[in-house]
Amino acid sequence: MHTTVPTSLRPHRPRRLRSSPAMRRLVAETRLHPADLVLPVFVREGIHEPSPITSMPGVMQHTLDSVRAVAVEAAAAGLGGIMLFGVPAERDPLGSAAVDPNGILNRALRAVAAEVSGDLVVQSDLCLDEFTSHGHCGVLDEVGRVDNDATLQHYARMAVAQAEAGAELLGLSGMMDGQVAVVREALDEAGFVDAAILAYAAKYASAFYGPFREAVDSQLQGDRRSYQQDPANRREGLREAYLDLDEGADIVMVKPAMSYLDVLSDVARVSTVPVWAYQVSGEAAMIEAAAANGWIDREAAIRESLLSISRAGADTILSYFALEVAGWRR
Ligand code: PBG
Repeated sequence: MHTTVPTSLRPHRPRRLRSSPAMRRLVAETRLHPADLVLPVFVREGIHEPSPITSMPGVMQHTLDSVRAVAVEAAAAGLGGIMLFGVPAERDPLGSAAVDPNGILNRALRAVAAEVSGDLVVQSDLCLDEFTSHGHCGVLDEVGRVDNDATLQHYARMAVAQAEAGAELLGLSGMMDGQVAVVREALDEAGFVDAAILAYAAKYASAFYGPFREAVDSQLQGDRRSYQQDPANRREGLREAYLDLDEGADIVMVKPAMSYLDVLSDVARVSTVPVWAYQVSGEAAMIEAAAANGWIDREAAIRESLLSISRAGADTILSYFALEVAGWRR
């Protein structure tokens, strides 16, 4: 016997849209596109061969030559950008090599910009921690505290040096109050009105930066909790983002990514500029370590982690997996 069930009583069937790979692809709400990925790279002064970083499998400290080759590869893969970090041979309390045009980061920027400028965006980390002998992101006062306003003057000089070297997008990662405003003014006064600012708006004092400290031979004693944010705080992430927007940030970023998807979602909902997220070294390391033990499917975990960041609202993601993921599309 045939009866007709009223429409209202028929079950809803969300599974219809999951029924085949083609259907799933068609209705996917987020996608990983190479243009939305940025590759962070490390350049070390005084080495002649690329040097592996134990806690970051597959990631190298590059030479000036090998970083150029990576930049070319990144451009060919269609990535959105490349973010350079410098590891100097000599450090001092003021981080002088950061403002020196011949400092390793500025030299690397010049080399990379000459190679790929126009094909992908050349970005710089603007922070003192790689350059200071004490490993802090700023200069210290007489009692050993990070001196906010004195540090801003160093950031201003560092910004001009980086723009001169060819950085098109400067990543302000130091978490000093007022850093965006001061750097913007310095860039404008030096004639670099088109050099853009990527503000690490909400940057947390995170255990997930662990492997990065090896990557840059960090000299840090103690921690960064007097300037980076407390992981306990969500609302404060929004406050930091609003401040940076107000000071003229061209892009705002949340960092780390996966443990801060709530903050990312908050910022993405209100931002009038692009919102980025940084999948940091420890996030990558967790995936690599679990995969190396055979406990998770590495590629599936990488994909899922990046999709979660995209879903939470990131327009662009900095990831050590960027090149690899771009290759999956071909
Ligand atoms: C500061 C900086 C750090 C990272 C990026 N920029 C380290 C820190 O704040 O301690 C961490 C990135 C990562 O862990 O991948 N220059």
